[in-house]
Amino acid sequence: MRFPTLVFAWAAAVLLAVAAFSAVADASPPPSKFLKVGFYEHTCPQAEYIVRDAVRRAFARNPGLAGGIIRMHFHDCFVRGCDGSLLINSTPGNSAEKDSQANNPSMRGFEVIDEAKAALEASCPRTVSCADVLAFAARDGANLAGGINYHVPSGRRDGRVSITDEVLNNNVPFPTDKVAELVASFKRKGLSADDMVTLSGAHTIGRSHCSSFTQRIHNFSGEVGRTDPSIHRFYAAELKHQCPPSTDNPSDPTTVPLDPVTPGEFDNQYFKNVLARKVPLTSDQTLLTSPRTAGIVAFHAAVKKAWQAKFAAAMVKMGNVEVLTGEEGEIREKCFVVNHH
Ligand code: HEM
Ligand SMILES: *[C@@H]1O[C@H](CO)[C@@H](O)[C@H](O)[C@H]1NC(C)=O
Repeated sequence: MRFPTLVFAWAAAVLLAVAAFSAVADASPPPSKFLKVGFYEHTCPQAEYIVRDAVRRAFARNPGLAGGIIRMHFHDCFVRGCDGSLLINSTPGNSAEKDSQANNPSMRGFEVIDEAKAALEASCPRTVSCADVLAFAARDGANLAGGINYHVPSGRRDGRVSITDEVLNNNVPFPTDKVAELVASFKRKGLSADDMVTLSGAHTIGRSHCSSFTQRIHNFSGEVGRTDPSIHRFYAAELKHQCPPSTDNPSDPTTVPLDPVTPGEFDNQYFKNVLARKVPLTSDQTLLTSPRTAGIVAFHAAVKKAWQAKFAAAMVKMGNVEVLTGEEGEIREKCFVVNHH
């Protein structure tokens, strides 16, 4: 009697230990590639406040910068992952992402990130990556422009490589892309069609230069004078008025709001505009051309709270794309230049 009981007890103890060990193993993240909310809690507890403060001050002087910063995080994540490579200046030997036609001259807000980083270096030198500053700042921009809030997992490291030609080479999508191209573009980054539609909702704030869509209103399908019939005709007339043919040049400074109804509010109006065919970019209007994406557009247009929650989750997901962690990369001291070695 005693012997089998002991064996049983021993076997049970081993099983429990194995179970407990594997529970612990499950709970602790793999050694790298995992970001963590509160990564700087011990090394720079004020990090997120410092970023928030810089974004708040920027927003007070120019609310449009919120859109610029959110777009920056997107363009950073889509080229070599969210590694701050977008922020690096070109040098005599290298033309950087910043100078791609997808970013120059339209991208705005670099100075806000540089300001936040300078304040961080004063409080906690060489601790907080530029990639994380950008991820925090994008969240803060969405929050200041309208009610979106979420925790940003951090612990990204900064890359040391930034190359102009990579931006539009199967990375950042084009405003002329159709839905299948957009789905494929996001899929290459591990993001779904639902994520793509959800994140496109960022076009509820900010602006577009005319050159991003003038072919659509003045030269549709290569026919001079023709307009894309999928644009609502009153809205098409408005766009033609705002963007005459002479503005079909990326250096022309003329812009229009991406959301003509509530241009500065981070709400779900963008999806209502897509349904009403009052959006400037082909990449926005094309979301209605597939039943699946059209259904998601209609859902977001109808249920604002659901879109807000999905947007926050999709931003976190986008913020994980091909991140550098652990000992990879570096913590840049200035976001616009890689560290000296
Ligand atoms: C789906 C593919 C997308 C395409 C083709 C696209 C394209 C564009 C274009 C052409 C502009 C106008 C730039 C200009 O001429 O000034 C723009 C602006 C903007 N985009 Fe996107 N975008 C896409 C997705 C996203 C995503 C995923 C986000 C962020 C989550 C985003 C955030 C923004 C914001 C906030 C602006 C306004 C920028 C400003 O006011 O400075 N976009 N986008
Ligand atoms: C119109 O589009 C065609 C085809 O994309 C292009 O070759 C032509 O240069 C465009 N014309 C103007 C005036 O933009």
